[in-house]
Amino acid sequence: MSVLKTEGLKKVYGKSPAQVKALDGVDLEVEQGEFVAIVGTSGSGKSTLLHMLGGLDKPTEGSVLVEGKDLSAMTDEQLTIFRRRNVGFVFQNYNLVPILNVYENIVLPVELDGGTVDKTFVENIIETLGLSEKKHQLPGHLSGGQQQRVAIARALAMKPSILLADEPTGNLDSKTSQEVLGILKMTSTRFHQTILMITHNELIAQLADRVIRIEDGRIVLPEAR
Ligand SMILES: Nc1ncnc2c1ncn2[C@@H]1O[C@H](COP(=O)(O)OP(=O)(O)O)[C@@H](O)[C@H]1O
Ligand SMILES: [Mg+2]
Repeated sequence: MSVLKTEGLKKVYGKSPAQVKALDGVDLEVEQGEFVAIVGTSGSGKSTLLHMLGGLDKPTEGSVLVEGKDLSAMTDEQLTIFRRRNVGFVFQNYNLVPILNVYENIVLPVELDGGTVDKTFVENIIETLGLSEKKHQLPGHLSGGQQQRVAIARALAMKPSILLADEPTGNLDSKTSQEVLGILKMTSTRFHQTILMITHNELIAQLADRVIRIEDGRIVLPEAR
């Protein structure tokens, strides 16, 4: 079974005559453990697609199935819980809580979910991401690359089956980008996760198992590599 599937996915923003067709019929299937890069020019619909896949916003038409479950059949409350437990998000701007230290930021989603922190697992992630020395520091004292690693660790701490990343290296220099990408690839293998990552960087996209190109809200060239 595919971990992620969309059928005839459409998203229209606004009302006529000022409508924007952000997604115009996307059929996509992703297998568990795949690392998929999503590329395309600015405004082509990449972020919209990621938001629909993660249940952050509702499609105008079509469906999104995560592990066989139709997101549109869920109430907002069910969706919030499902998302928290199954989908990890990494954004360009890290979105860390400035008054919490690195460790507290990483375990925050688990605590919000009322769960018990799997300390061994979290320590494993922290070590894997090279953050052991930084555990008690505040995000403001870290470099951009380090902050993004904390954001990745936070996303991984919930053990999501899917990790969605929207230009996670957009604010990083090319050396740090490669490093963060290497970490993403390594963790996805180690923790058996599926990654969908939006990127502008064609070199980075080459590291993925598959590259999906979006143009005007449609997939134009699904290359199997
Ligand atoms: N909340 C919104 N309201 C209205 N239009 C939007 C909104 N979000 C995105 N759009 C429009 O939808 C199109 C696709 O946007 P987006 O998915 O952000 O593209 P990308 O991430 O590829 O740059 C663009 O024309 C954008 O202006
Ligand atoms: Mg975008």
